[in-house]
Amino acid sequence: MNIEVFLTEAEIAQEFADSIEAHDLPEKFFYWLPRSVRAWIELSQNSVTAGLRQFWEVLSQKAESWAEHLSAPVSLISFGSGDGVKDRLLMKGLERAGQNVKYFPVDASQTLLELACSAAEDAELVTMGIKADIASPVHLVLASDAAESPKLLLMAGNTLGGFDPLDQVRHLAECMHAEDRLLIDGEVFNEALMDRVQEPAVRRFALAPLVSLGIADADGELRFEHKHDDRHAGLHMITRHFRAGRDLVIPLPGEPTITRGERIMLNFRYFYTPESFRWLLTKHAGLKILDEARNSDGKYIAALCSRG
Ligand SMILES: C[S@@+](CC[C@H](N)C(=O)[O-])C[C@H]1O[C@@H](n2cnc3c(N)ncnc32)[C@H](O)[C@@H]1O
Repeated sequence: MNIEVFLTEAEIAQEFADSIEAHDLPEKFFYWLPRSVRAWIELSQNSVTAGLRQFWEVLSQKAESWAEHLSAPVSLISFGSGDGVKDRLLMKGLERAGQNVKYFPVDASQTLLELACSAAEDAELVTMGIKADIASPVHLVLASDAAESPKLLLMAGNTLGGFDPLDQVRHLAECMHAEDRLLIDGEVFNEALMDRVQEPAVRRFALAPLVSLGIADADGELRFEHKHDDRHAGLHMITRHFRAGRDLVIPLPGEPTITRGERIMLNFRYFYTPESFRWLLTKHAGLKILDEARNSDGKYIAALCSRG
């Protein structure tokens, strides 16, 4: 297995300890430790996320028509690839259209990256994994430079929503050359999203990094909040935090504590209106939407973009 490393395990471990101390855990730690990987795989195969999986099956059929926007052979660079299940659906669609694909999954999670690489190798695809921090503009450029243009950059599974989408989408656009394309999806906000917070699989995923440190559900309270991002109409966020119900000593070097009543911020997710999703890509990041897709119930949106 061929994996290029820009982000080492030692760096992730140090950042994890710093984040616990700062009481603010960014997105990448929710896919890192074994318990988190298990919780994510369970969630990604759960009925809560079935609509998104079906959407990618439909998109893979569209890949045949999108192939005309791409020069061959295509290097597919998937930012936040996870285990690569959706990427493989897309690659099958591109292959049906006669495209020769080279695959470059990019992720901070060693375990998920290995799953993406080994499944692609089993499918006899030319594959190179890249272990990098996609929140870093430098790592984004290094990862996208691993392949020659024309490239298809991919960000699937509302991965954009785990970051500040205004910053992240601009950094993605900066990686693109004239012939390159970006395929990106987003989840459309609806009030029912807040009902998901009661789902055991969602709660297990949200709490997994803390449970890995010996903190139990009963040690405090997991809360979800719906917020608006006032920088542009139609940008919604669901944030999560854990409020300690007793003093907690964390088994990390220096034994940091979370005292009773203190909060630790967990990862958040952005959701969009179709208009705000288009605004992010076009007016904000300067991209041009070549084609757009929505699933039948309107809950997901995806766009194929070029540089504006
Ligand atoms: C919402 S999941 C989507 C995974 C996959 N694209 C899918 O649709 O199933 C987000 C992915 O981004 C990765 N990720 C999160 N933060 C990251 C970071 N800062 N750098 C690199 N990868 C990151 C996670 O490990 C995870 O695999």
